[in-house]
Amino acid sequence: LASVEVDLGAIPLSETVTVKWRGKPVFIRNRTEEQIAECADTPAGLRDPQTDAERTENPKWLVILGICTHLGCVPMSNAGDYNGWYCPCHGSHYDGSGRIRRGPAPLNLEIPPYKFVGEDKLILG
Ligand code: FES
Repeated sequence: LASVEVDLGAIPLSETVTVKWRGKPVFIRNRTEEQIAECADTPAGLRDPQTDAERTENPKWLVILGICTHLGCVPMSNAGDYNGWYCPCHGSHYDGSGRIRRGPAPLNLEIPPYKFVGEDKLILG
């Protein structure tokens, strides 16, 4: 399987970049303390209940597949009602942890396999 190396130092604080991995978009967000704190809450009644800690290896970095779990569109970053992602195809809102909060998508945005190498590098795959 092809791995992709990502330079985390090039991602400004609070921004999300899109990296291509095995033909799929992967979103990587450099989260601020505020964004981390907001995601640390696990609201009751989540459709696909997961804590933020279950979804991140290091809370500073959120790494998710950019493929809506409804019918596979690419959601827009920094959009929607939950400070995360919005899928314009049929109106799914994902939060800053990539968890589905509203709309037809059944599951949270998927987490691809990745690992950190040193301070500033991440390997996808
Ligand atoms: Fe995203 Fe339908 S494909 S809401």
